[in-house]
Amino acid sequence: MLESVWLISLQDLDDDARAIHLGAVAGLELAPGQHDFVGDPLRMVLAGLAEDSRRPYVIEADGDAVGVLTLQAGAARLAGWPDDDSAWLLRGFLIDRRQQGRGLGPLAAAAAVEAAAKLTARQGSGEAGVVLSVNERNSAGLSAYRSAGFVDHGPYLGGSSGPQRTMYRSFAG
Ligand SMILES: CC(C)(COP(=O)(O)OP(=O)(O)OC[C@H]1O[C@@H](n2cnc3c(N)ncnc32)[C@H](O)[C@@H]1OP(=O)(O)O)[C@@H](O)C(=O)NCCC(=O)NCCS
Repeated sequence: MLESVWLISLQDLDDDARAIHLGAVAGLELAPGQHDFVGDPLRMVLAGLAEDSRRPYVIEADGDAVGVLTLQAGAARLAGWPDDDSAWLLRGFLIDRRQQGRGLGPLAAAAAVEAAAKLTARQGSGEAGVVLSVNERNSAGLSAYRSAGFVDHGPYLGGSSGPQRTMYRSFAG
């Protein structure tokens, strides 16, 4: 079992380093059926780089890119949260299919909460935690988020890909 993952903020890299990381992201793969739950990794991080409210990260383990995730401010309602601004939205989260099942997902989700808490402290933007929505059929996702300390806050029917659960982890807990 690996003990740590690193989140590399693509926005904070210079152009050369960002290009190298984007090349690695282009090589990430999903398992059959998982496209129902998440988008194409390269497209998602490029969309994140193009929008001020989003912060895309590469997840690294042992020096290799193993996944991606994005934190977004002012968009928590997209996960069924009652308001947009009291929580960061975690979206675009995946671990490469060849690296799944090693516990990296829970480590990365927990690292995302730490990164979000630091952003809030730095910006004084007032979020109290991180929220996400996960498809009810996505048992690996539900389990990984639970392991990372996210708590089920009920059903969310607003997504385009079937019934979801809203899950939340506060910075306090
Ligand atoms: C959800 C995801 C991020 C979890 O990451 P991960 O690193 O595989 O997480 P874990 O190693 O903790 O595995 C989670 C669960 O799936 C199971 N699992 C994952 N991959 C597996 C594999 N290849 N073989 C067997 N079991 C596997 C694990 O046993 C674990 O189950 P458990 O908690 O009941 O023991 C990853 O599966 C993924 O990227 N899925 C596709 C994209 C996606 O669904 N993203 C989330 C959208 S909200």
